[in-house]
Amino acid sequence: MTRVALAFSGGLDTTVCVPLLEEEYGYDDVIGVTVDVGQPAAEFDEAEATAEALGLEHYVVDARAEFAQLCLESVRANATYQGYPLGTALARPVIAEAILEVAKEQDCDAVAHGCTGKGNDQLRFEAIWRDSDLDVYAPVRELGLTREWEQEYADEKDLPVEGGSGGDWSIDTNLWSRSVEGDDLEDPSYVPPGDIYDWTDDPSGETDEIEISFENGYPVAVDGEELEPIALIEQLNEVAGAYGVGRTDMMEDRMLGLKVRENYEHPAATTLLAAHEALEGLVLTQEERQFKTQIDNQWAQKAYEGLVDAPLVSALDGFIAETQKRVTGTVTIRFEGGRARPVARDSEYAAYSAAHASFDTETVGKIEQEDATGVAKYHGFQRRLANESIAALGGEDETTDVATDGGDADED
Ligand code: ARG
Repeated sequence: MTRVALAFSGGLDTTVCVPLLEEEYGYDDVIGVTVDVGQPAAEFDEAEATAEALGLEHYVVDARAEFAQLCLESVRANATYQGYPLGTALARPVIAEAILEVAKEQDCDAVAHGCTGKGNDQLRFEAIWRDSDLDVYAPVRELGLTREWEQEYADEKDLPVEGGSGGDWSIDTNLWSRSVEGDDLEDPSYVPPGDIYDWTDDPSGETDEIEISFENGYPVAVDGEELEPIALIEQLNEVAGAYGVGRTDMMEDRMLGLKVRENYEHPAATTLLAAHEALEGLVLTQEERQFKTQIDNQWAQKAYEGLVDAPLVSALDGFIAETQKRVTGTVTIRFEGGRARPVARDSEYAAYSAAHASFDTETVGKIEQEDATGVAKYHGFQRRLANESIAALGGEDETTDVATDGGDADED
């Protein structure tokens, strides 16, 4: 008895994979696994209904808590990829692990996904799955399927597909972001209609302020109310989304090198990332902040690749954890014109002294204004000497010189 566990959403791609795994790959049994990383309820209904109509043995795994925690780790790393807060990317390893677990429990000898050979998700899933002994299949890629072929095949076989819940767009939703791609959006010069957005309203003239509290770089409360990660993210998606916060319309460079046009909504992510960075601005030293941008970039790159379990990431996490010891405090965010703008920050670990930085106080503690005189004399000294040398060269056009004196160096 051969058995394969399929990452199943109930959409066209994964639905056609069910009979194909039997017909083309010769599997006796296919089981479908849907992993909950915060998709809307309707998607589970669709998956359930499709599974039932197919007679597919179907499992739903709740991985929201684990996923929410990973999203908050990404906040500590200020993680975005080309401006996108990595919702899809962060979810994939979590989903892949959950499917692998079910596959093992259910005595499967293989796992399969319905990703195409063009995107990132095939790489993210398989990086996890190929750590195991199970066989890995990607029918859509391996059989070179197109959406058109899949639709015809589904009609022919009378498979339960209704052209997908998102109409013409290909949509991927989880707690951290909602991504919309495909169809007309593939033309980078096409201006998307307002109805591609579901989480965010059009930015209005209205503004609002909320206070976010952090402990060791993790957001823990909104307006003083402590919230678990899932509830905190859900609440901020709701609140910030109402002010049109967190829309990204971008050209994204995929791992395979293809450029694609992507649209994302991520109100909570945008709000938390802005607040976290504002708090780091208060408590971290200049050199920590500067160095951390490199750490953060590497972290985001590995997250984009779906490789958050790489040893590099653990090493980066070590640096991040050390810096986050002081990232405790509150930030006030104003929602305004579609932005989440930090307007106040407070921490008992501030690397800031109002008394020292103020224009109003003369001498406090160990430093006073006149001490800066010596520094001001030295500042820019090398460049002064270098610029004098450049001026001494006379600013003559060397190529003309070379031509007129036969290549001899200018002796002036
Ligand atoms: N390009 C994005 C990423 O690789 C997300 C794509 C989501 N898929 C979708 N069908 N909208 O992270």
